[in-house]
Amino acid sequence: RTTVAQIFADQAAFGGQTVTVCGWARTIRDMKTFGFLELNDGSCFRNLQVVFADNEVENFKEIAKCNVGTSFVVTGTVVLTPEAKQPLELKAQTITVEGPSTPDYPLQKKRHSVEYLRTIQHLRPRTNLFSAVFRVRSVAAHAIHCFFQDRGFVYVHTPLITASDCEGAGEMFQVTTLDLANPPKNEDGSVDYSQDFFGKRANLTVSGQLNAENFAMAFGNVYTFGPTFRAENSNTQRHAAEFWMIEPEMAFADLNDYMDTAEDMIKYIIRTVMEKCPDEMNFFSSFVDKGLKERLEHVASSDFVRVTYTDAVEILKKNNDKFDYKVEWGCDLQTEHERYLTEVVFQKPVFVTDYPKDIKAFYMRLNDDGKTVAAADCLVPGIGELIGGSQREERLELLENRIRELGMNPEDYWWYLDLRRYGSCKHAGYGLGFERMVMYLTGVNNIRDVELHPRTVGNAEF
Ligand code: 4AD
Ligand code: MG
Repeated sequence: RTTVAQIFADQAAFGGQTVTVCGWARTIRDMKTFGFLELNDGSCFRNLQVVFADNEVENFKEIAKCNVGTSFVVTGTVVLTPEAKQPLELKAQTITVEGPSTPDYPLQKKRHSVEYLRTIQHLRPRTNLFSAVFRVRSVAAHAIHCFFQDRGFVYVHTPLITASDCEGAGEMFQVTTLDLANPPKNEDGSVDYSQDFFGKRANLTVSGQLNAENFAMAFGNVYTFGPTFRAENSNTQRHAAEFWMIEPEMAFADLNDYMDTAEDMIKYIIRTVMEKCPDEMNFFSSFVDKGLKERLEHVASSDFVRVTYTDAVEILKKNNDKFDYKVEWGCDLQTEHERYLTEVVFQKPVFVTDYPKDIKAFYMRLNDDGKTVAAADCLVPGIGELIGGSQREERLELLENRIRELGMNPEDYWWYLDLRRYGSCKHAGYGLGFERMVMYLTGVNNIRDVELHPRTVGNAEF
């Protein structure tokens, strides 16, 4: 069995050869004495044009009557057609109908809206859009592994079930073996989790960072790449309840090391995807987001902006008339502000650094001013926040104080604090939201269309 990708990759060698290809019909056209079958086998973005003639194949009528979506096994000769629109076609000798499709096949040859495609998630990988998105997603994932592995980072797997709330936002899905309709109770009436499988309240992780720090304090440079979960009731185009995150953690590194690494990583991912997915990127640039390729090329070859939160707030305040939510020092930046900075003011990716400590997580390193932390978010046009990260508080006393200040219990973090007792060192890391990266690479503007089965508010059917 030969794949369509193999044939297109080595056209000269395949010209004149007999091959067997398996795939699904995108279109079937009956021209009376011969017919065209556009076959897609998923190995690449392109379809293979199969020509079947009444006097060549014995079941011409059967094939010509088939519906779109039918699966076929085709044996034939590869004919190079340099003059034609397609560089080659397959002249069929035998065609076997593997599995017929019915006339009500939902993906007829026309452009379907993304909204409609979300209602047939099990079939949408067969469309051009999803063929391109998920190939880019795969290539981007591989590029991320290559980027870190080439630099000596160790790939670590952190648990998905955990008792700690890394971001301290309480947006966690609870995991329990107890019957919560009728749970065992403590004397004070609270749920007695000691009878649970985990012995205490457990959740799905919102971030692997705290565990990644454990690894970093032994391996130096590590990264995670796995699913994370947020029970936030955010019904937006860029929030999902289940998404994948890449979280590098680097020992003996500071905020600038994080930003340098993240910037290199994004450029590397862009370059790799542009090089390995030219058909897909042409498709996105033509049908999803005009000018995408040029913009990404520019991003890959120019420096990102770095601006402090305080300076960014000064810029935004001057434009408060444009925002629903007015900006002042101390407020959390909303998507409208993030997009204004990156799309209007700088027109390229921006790291906003040194946020007020009160709007950031407990583990971020306090700056000398006592008000801000060594954090940075990377904002990009079209998306807003793509990466969140920081230098970590490596000083035991300050970290303990901060945990108490936020009303958290240091005892719950005894193992995390131990890292500051035994050979603490400055360290930094970040989290890249993988779906947002795929959106950025493809121009797709809704997170529901870069996950096959998105877990957004109200969606878990498939
Ligand atoms: O900014 P966040 O919450 O940072 C952390 O979780 C840190 N512990 C990461 C670290 O330093 N190791 O999330 C990081 C990124 C965001 O910038 C965003 O791209 C993505 O994860 N993200 C989401 N993506 C989709 N849906 C959601 N609900 C997301 N929440 C965060
Ligand atoms: Mg964030």
